[in-house]
Amino acid sequence: MYSLVRKALFSLDAEKAHDLTIQALKIIGKSPLNPLLKMILSCPTGSPKTVMGLQFKNPIGLAAGADKNGEAIDGFGAMGFGFIEVGTVTPLAQDGNPKPRQFRLPEAEGIINRNGFNNYGIDYLIENVKQAKYDGILGINIGKNTFTSVENGKADYIFCLNKAYNYADYITINISSPNSPGLRQLQYGDALDDLLQSIKERQQILTQQYNKYVPIAVKIAPDLTKAELVQIADTLHRHKMDGVIATNTTISRDTVNGLKNAEQQGGLSGKPLQNKSTEIIAYLHQELKGSIPIIGSGGIDCVQNAQEKLSAGAELLQLYSGLIYHGPKLIKQLVETIK
Ligand SMILES: Cc1cc2nc3c(=O)[nH]c(=O)nc-3n(C[C@H](O)[C@H](O)[C@H](O)COP(=O)(O)O)c2cc1C
Repeated sequence: MYSLVRKALFSLDAEKAHDLTIQALKIIGKSPLNPLLKMILSCPTGSPKTVMGLQFKNPIGLAAGADKNGEAIDGFGAMGFGFIEVGTVTPLAQDGNPKPRQFRLPEAEGIINRNGFNNYGIDYLIENVKQAKYDGILGINIGKNTFTSVENGKADYIFCLNKAYNYADYITINISSPNSPGLRQLQYGDALDDLLQSIKERQQILTQQYNKYVPIAVKIAPDLTKAELVQIADTLHRHKMDGVIATNTTISRDTVNGLKNAEQQGGLSGKPLQNKSTEIIAYLHQELKGSIPIIGSGGIDCVQNAQEKLSAGAELLQLYSGLIYHGPKLIKQLVETIK
């Protein structure tokens, strides 16, 4: 069934196909068809797991970027995900980069995107979150507006944190998109230290204000040297961050050189990212020694490589590109098998 849907979607521009899918899921999610979709997909609930102090009904999640505005939470929820991460969302709405900005690499089962945080802003996302009926864990992934300088980026994260805190089960600080100029600088040295210090201080204030503790994870890039990872792990540890998501998309083209669209600028995801992200998870795990849970993301497209990420040290898994190439049956397979 999905092979037919995929054929139709792949005949369209990648972003157009994505927008159509979101619209369809938005309609299904809000309609009485939603329980029907659940039945058709007959997704099992899976094996529960407690991570970051939260009870996940299963460890398989939707990665950020698929539902940037939180418009299709119930539609994605019907597919069986144990958790859904919406965003990246910024304080104000922004268009992102000029189109086309999303490209498939079908031979490699990869995707390159340079969307640049196109989204309708945090207020719109929060309204959608309020209306969603999804009963799994919901993460809100936050970023800074492109017109905000990297030096002033902290204020954007705090703004979004304030707005999202009461509506999220966890919040992700995205400092690893390659498509927002200079953003990845926030992963290093004093810039990271300063950002996390402010975020943890704000988390403390918000915990008192709302009388609840909302865990905060940091999402990192795969394009980091071992020395950089050591430093990041140390900083995450010092600030007692609640989780780390490894990884975002890569700017490397080592695994796709020569393929159609490989020369497009942006972040590469999917199968070509699989091994690299697993290596980062393994190294991070070695450094963190289990002190901070790792959420593994990057090229998950079957049970075997999902298991590899768990063996490398991930406690939860997220996927996006695999869903585009393999459809909802991939979620079912993973939810049924992964513990
Ligand atoms: C089209 C597209 C848009 C994305 N947008 C975001 C985003 O807004 N924020 C973010 O943190 N990650 C974003 N990602 C990265 C994914 O969340 C994920 O970390 C990455 O794609 C690796 O997982 P995958 O290989 O399963 O896709 C995006 C990925 C794709 C393919």
